[in-house]
Amino acid sequence: MNTHELVDTARQMLANGKGLLAMDESTPTCNERFAAVGIEPTEAARRGWRELIITTPGLAESIGGVILYDETIYQRCTDGRPFVQVLTDAGIVVGIKVDTGAKALAGHNGEKITEGLDGLRERLQGYAALGARFAKWRAVISMGAGLPSPACITANAHALARYAALCQEVGLVPVVEPEVLMSGDHSLQRCAEVSALVLHEVFEQLHVQDVLLEGMVLKPSMLLPGLNCSHQDNIDEVADTTVTALLRAVPAAVAGIAFLSGGQSAELATARLNAMNRRFKSRLPWALTFSFARAIQQAALDIWRGEPGKVKQAQRALQHRATCNRAARLGDYSAAMENLAIPISGV
Ligand code: 13P
Repeated sequence: MNTHELVDTARQMLANGKGLLAMDESTPTCNERFAAVGIEPTEAARRGWRELIITTPGLAESIGGVILYDETIYQRCTDGRPFVQVLTDAGIVVGIKVDTGAKALAGHNGEKITEGLDGLRERLQGYAALGARFAKWRAVISMGAGLPSPACITANAHALARYAALCQEVGLVPVVEPEVLMSGDHSLQRCAEVSALVLHEVFEQLHVQDVLLEGMVLKPSMLLPGLNCSHQDNIDEVADTTVTALLRAVPAAVAGIAFLSGGQSAELATARLNAMNRRFKSRLPWALTFSFARAIQQAALDIWRGEPGKVKQAQRALQHRATCNRAARLGDYSAAMENLAIPISGV
């Protein structure tokens, strides 16, 4: 393991107030998002959408790393340049989703275990040779009556740690993503209890597998009341509960924490990240930033809908969300930013 290289990569991904952009939807998930806005589920449409994203002018001002999917890492822009080269030339670190999906956990109704460890070393070596410098693995934890089970938490934490150790052996920074889902009617307090159990188990397993904390990034969900909970806590309450739990469970040596958005509205995800950084600015031992997919992409996808004439307008929307999230990472976002027209050079 080249410790210096891992630490440098992790720093570069999160440097200068930037965050990560997840565009690693699997083909079925990407097709589902396309279907919702009337786009044909073709390889050409997926390539076109991903080209639109990575050629957004000014993207590198807010985005330090981009997470690709297997299909995407081999694709090229219309002018023939490989996506990986376009990103690397812009100073954006290339990442890749490497799990093969969450499958039913045997004997545990309603719970999932993420698969993909078999042959992972060789797949990671292949992606590194293509230019990837970090990877992502997502575990999902469902909440509900009697859920999550200890079996689900332990199995997923173990898999995350084995994935992370393999990444570091190959020289890739692991992004470790234990997502506690928002679905359900649980309270914020119940989400805090479950998230604490999950985070403690994840860091226990990372320790057992000798994962270098300075060379990894944690990608958690924000601590939130369930979507169907009758009491929806305000932005500051969510910020305080989330950061308090992270301060208690995440070692200071970890390079950074980059949240997933998980189905929150884009504006709310930004406002909550901003409140965390504003209220805890002087007390955070790690970078606290974003690794959003939907909360960066959705507004742009709603505009594009596969129409060539809408590319520039969609890129403006994408750049706007990326800019707002960079401001939130610095604690400088305000709702007034949502009304600003963002001029983009060349668009
Ligand atoms: P969302 O921000 O849409 O939750 O996606 C982040 C991600 O990478 C999910 O694995």
